[in-house]
Amino acid sequence: MVFPKSLFLSTLLILIIPFCFLSQTEIEIPIDKRVDDLLSKMTLEEKIGQMNQYNGFWNVTGPSPKEGNAKEKYDHLSKGWVGSMLNVRGANEVRAVQEIAVNESRLGIPLIIGFDLIHGYKTISPIPLAESASWDLEAIKKSAAMGAKEAAAAGINWTFAPMVDITRDARWGRVMEGAGEDPYLGSLISIARVQGFQGMDLSAPFTLAACAKHFAAYGFAESGRDYNTVDIGENTLHNMVLPPFKAASDAGVKTFMNSFNDLNGIPATADKNLQRTILKESWGFDGFIVSDWGSLKEMIDHGYARDENHAGELGINAGSDMDMESYIYLNEIESLLKENRIKIEQINDAVKRILKVKFELGLFDDPFKYCDEEREKKVTGSEEIRAGVLDMAKKSIVLLKNEGNVLPLKKKGQKIALIGPLADDKNSPLGNWRIAAENNSAVSVLEGMESYAENEIIFSQGVKLVNSIPAFHEEVQINTTDKCGFKAAKKAAKKANVVVMVLGEYGFQSGEGRSRTKLDLPGFQQELLEEVYKVNPNIVLVLMNGRPLVLNWAEGHIPAIVEAWHLGTESGNAIAEILYGDYNPSGKLPMSFPRSVGQMPLYYNYKNTGRPGANGADAGSVFWSHYGDEKNSPLYPFGYGLSYTTFEYSEIELSSNSLSMNSKIQASVVLKNTGNFKGKEVVQLYIRDHFASSIRPVKELKGFELVELKPGESRKVTFAIDAELLQFYSARKTWEAEPGAFSLFIGSNSSTKRMVDFELN
Ligand code: NOJ
Repeated sequence: MVFPKSLFLSTLLILIIPFCFLSQTEIEIPIDKRVDDLLSKMTLEEKIGQMNQYNGFWNVTGPSPKEGNAKEKYDHLSKGWVGSMLNVRGANEVRAVQEIAVNESRLGIPLIIGFDLIHGYKTISPIPLAESASWDLEAIKKSAAMGAKEAAAAGINWTFAPMVDITRDARWGRVMEGAGEDPYLGSLISIARVQGFQGMDLSAPFTLAACAKHFAAYGFAESGRDYNTVDIGENTLHNMVLPPFKAASDAGVKTFMNSFNDLNGIPATADKNLQRTILKESWGFDGFIVSDWGSLKEMIDHGYARDENHAGELGINAGSDMDMESYIYLNEIESLLKENRIKIEQINDAVKRILKVKFELGLFDDPFKYCDEEREKKVTGSEEIRAGVLDMAKKSIVLLKNEGNVLPLKKKGQKIALIGPLADDKNSPLGNWRIAAENNSAVSVLEGMESYAENEIIFSQGVKLVNSIPAFHEEVQINTTDKCGFKAAKKAAKKANVVVMVLGEYGFQSGEGRSRTKLDLPGFQQELLEEVYKVNPNIVLVLMNGRPLVLNWAEGHIPAIVEAWHLGTESGNAIAEILYGDYNPSGKLPMSFPRSVGQMPLYYNYKNTGRPGANGADAGSVFWSHYGDEKNSPLYPFGYGLSYTTFEYSEIELSSNSLSMNSKIQASVVLKNTGNFKGKEVVQLYIRDHFASSIRPVKELKGFELVELKPGESRKVTFAIDAELLQFYSARKTWEAEPGAFSLFIGSNSSTKRMVDFELN
């Protein structure tokens, strides 16, 4: 084909002309070069400034930033002594601080604006533990992307999420913020969240830099008490704790946050092995590490740093790049350099990492790209985002019990007693970490149920909520002194065909600093449940909580139990849709639910002892690993969850029972929907490595597939097994697969016994 000359010229012009109007920086000067050029112009003070992060300090529509407490921070901003701020939000507010940094400081370096976007910004999605119960990676990614879109429109360009801490102890309040107890599921969710927040293009106006936290082992706080010491060996660290962090790093997460805890005697903030050797050197992480809030200073309380000066030295040497609200880098780095206790190369490296992320976000090209008030108005609470959080909420619900098919409820002609302190609560469903949400902005279960069907709803709180002191985001608590609502609740239950009870934890009962020693229904709720049961046992128990609870009595008596977590803004609508059967629950537990607090820490992927009992224990023998007053097993195992339909699994078919180091074998089952509803099942693959250089867990999740089937429909589900899937951190301190005997399990939760054996040669 001949290319016409005139067409050639015009095509050439179309390609060339735009570049004539671009500055040199915009024509693809590599970011590393732009970073180096800028660094070469910076004074030491300005470099230190980039490593300093401040909390928000004034309301731009309120008192002047040049007065009072705010004055010092204002001065620092204008001198270029601040690289980042957190908790400044709103397009207008962020513009105000950014203007000082960009227009008043010598080099005009823009700020990176951080915020705890944990599960939605103003429109709240389910708490991360709940989202993890969906096992739906696409949905989780989409949920993070929606949150990013809303937050980015409000000026934010960096979220302190995802929290990828593996956690086995439901006493720890922050289990609500993670993906639960399993490193395989946790790693995939870690990737989904990073991809959701950061998108394909970090410089796009609706994506944010993500932050994998808390590095590392914060979820293993002794006795589940937040901030407590962590003492775990290399085996647990590498096989359980680090994989989701490695996954985030491989997925290109831009930042890491270190943690408050000490790990085997060394505060994580000063842990050179973690931050420099493992993260930056071995994994090749090229983003930056921010300290947790004041964690540099807290090393003094830990008894690790002598004073602030020493804390600064420890932090820099360990590779902590940015100081969140300790002022230590700002005050100490200069003298540390003079005394040769840290090196200028370390400072240059930290500053380069921070600047690189700012360049990648496109902040140097347009520092105000997140500060468009019109966009903020349009995006905040948009229909698209509300529909997204509703969809995620439905996918997060786990059906724990449904005896006699109490659920789904009939849509007409029913008298429903709706009972419980959380049934009409519009604040608790938002859960913890919902800083930007309006108080009481969730759809309550009462509202959701009333608008959904044509039944008569008789509402009674039973146990009241009381305001807590000091109030925080209208924090309430479940009252522990007043049972006067019991009478009305029982009266309502007596008249009803079915009772729906909404019980659990108030929104702030889990989260940071919210550890508990009891895991039962707080306050008088258990007593209320038992009293109502006496007058009408036809109860659907809807649970709202941020962590696994002890539900033995309910499991023994209540016919239907729905785990609805803290589901966010659309909570009541999602719950109503599930209860009426227009959405078939498909969630599976990402954490084991205990029978007793005394079982903590409890997890499915435990190691056998030399005295595991099981079939081997002699009846009446006491000398095996067990409790005298409770079973070892959980009440509901990891991976457990029911559906309104039923599924049948075939036996496992294995393509070969011999695998070599560089071959693959296939394991398949046929799954059939044997019930009356269309439904989704999470088909789960577990593997057991029978003998190894260091002991392997009795079972480990190694694959899963979310399968949707119509009634009567079947599908073959196949998993590929290769040596890489069998790798672990061995006694030789390396990731490898060791030859030997394995078992492979496929089923609907971690307690499945459907099994075949194979060998790795
Ligand atoms: C302390 C928390 O541990 C951390 O997760 C959070 O990101 C920071 N505070 C900032 O709010």
